[in-house]
Amino acid sequence: MTRTNAPIITIDGPSGSGKGTVSRAVAHTLGWALLDSGALYRLVALAGRKAGVDLGDGQGLAALATGLDIRFGANPAGGEQIWLDGQDVSNAIRTEEAGNDASRVAVLLPVREALLERQRRFVAAPGLVADGRDMGTVVFPQAQLKIFLIAEPGERALRRYKQLKEKGLPASLPRLSEDIAERDRRDASRAVSPLRASADAVVLDSTGMTIDAVVARIMQLAKDRL
Ligand code: DC
Repeated sequence: MTRTNAPIITIDGPSGSGKGTVSRAVAHTLGWALLDSGALYRLVALAGRKAGVDLGDGQGLAALATGLDIRFGANPAGGEQIWLDGQDVSNAIRTEEAGNDASRVAVLLPVREALLERQRRFVAAPGLVADGRDMGTVVFPQAQLKIFLIAEPGERALRRYKQLKEKGLPASLPRLSEDIAERDRRDASRAVSPLRASADAVVLDSTGMTIDAVVARIMQLAKDRL
């Protein structure tokens, strides 16, 4: 199977909808590669901060994005590990501040264009699970199965809160709720690649569902479609 015709499942949706955990589990179950596209935007913002590039400077950030040395891996416990220019930034990119920075740089067209080809290079046999906001609409419109995962904002804030606490990172629930509302607004209203379900996506509301139940539903859809 060539790089370009390996099957793809896209999982898009707003912050805290459970996409990250669900995508990882689906990729693991199928034995497929995983693209965490949000991590790429977080890495560009972090690299921009480190290099002193203004987070509104699309051209400057795009130039940085093109040359970034990024490595995805797993630590011995199976958790994600991400290196930027040889430095372990796994925790640094997961803070709320890094998420807000990522949402800011993600509105810039030059940054999105600079990351397009890098994202498409993740396609590999036997298949790819791609997690993000515009995976089904822009990056992989040819995907065989597109999921748009949603959940009520209150539940999403609570999930994020638990996730951050588990990682030992600081978190405040009222602050997270505000951040989620603000990020939803920015992600959905931006001119380039706004957050929206592809016309051919299956919209899955995970409110009140366990992660296992969401994964099982997607696996069933995958079995029917692939
Ligand atoms: O999924 P995440 O929280 O790691 O994403 C961080 C930010 O990056 C999010 O606010 C929007 C942006 N993003 C995007 O614009 N397009 C993607 N495909 C993935 C993330």
